[in-house]
Amino acid sequence: APVGAAAGRLAGKTVTVTAGGTREPLDPVRFLGNRSSGKQGAAVAEAALAEGARVRLIAAHMEVPVPAGAELVQVETALELRDAVHQAAAETDILVMAAAVADFRPGELAENKIKKRDDGADPVITLVRNPDILAEAVQRRAELGSGPALIVGFAAETGDGTSSVLEYGRRKLERKGCDLLVLNQVGRSLVFGQDTTEVRILSPQDAPGTEPVAVAGTKAEIARHILDRIAGELDAPLP
Ligand code: CTP
Ligand code: CA
Repeated sequence: APVGAAAGRLAGKTVTVTAGGTREPLDPVRFLGNRSSGKQGAAVAEAALAEGARVRLIAAHMEVPVPAGAELVQVETALELRDAVHQAAAETDILVMAAAVADFRPGELAENKIKKRDDGADPVITLVRNPDILAEAVQRRAELGSGPALIVGFAAETGDGTSSVLEYGRRKLERKGCDLLVLNQVGRSLVFGQDTTEVRILSPQDAPGTEPVAVAGTKAEIARHILDRIAGELDAPLP
């Protein structure tokens, strides 16, 4: 075992982390992507390694280095990420879905590069929904009666005129059915690619009407906070 690993609270556990942002191809040279840098997922992987866990990182496009010691599974699209997650879930204790998964993909993948047309007609791109991988992982665990002891989702919300960030977070937690939801308040230029952020960790066990404490810090600090919570949940399993 790596030096110091045995002392970690997650020694002997396997943690699977998805990170980065998926890219959905339009043709051989173009894709639809998003601005996720992969920083938060990489920080979670790093923190899990520091706790002595075996870490599998399922990485869609990332702009930061992969932490040394993590087992890397590289994926491109949401559908590839889905396969990798469901495959990993069978042998993982904790699944952390930090990746920004494209909600939609182009309905058709052009075999050749899309060219401008001589008649001036502009192309129309039809999008189709990608599966909700997090919700699927929760469903599969229920169907199989086995799988990760803890499934952790992420959500970045802005809130709007009708609902607060917390209300959207609670609804998302319920819809996904995961065990913990790391809720990020985002605004204008906040969060994407930035080094500090503020999160609240929601659980279906939270007493109604309570507001979980917000923790602000660098992505490394947030990651340690998330791993603290994960280690705590494993010590005191939910009813
Ligand atoms: N997620 C997923 N599969 C998708 C979309 C999202 O597994 N197709 C996961 C993300 O990795 C994240 C969580 O679900 O852990 C929440 O992602 P988010 O985009 O906030 O949720 P959506 O259900 O896509 O809702 P929204 O319409 O607000 O984007
Ligand atoms: Ca989404």
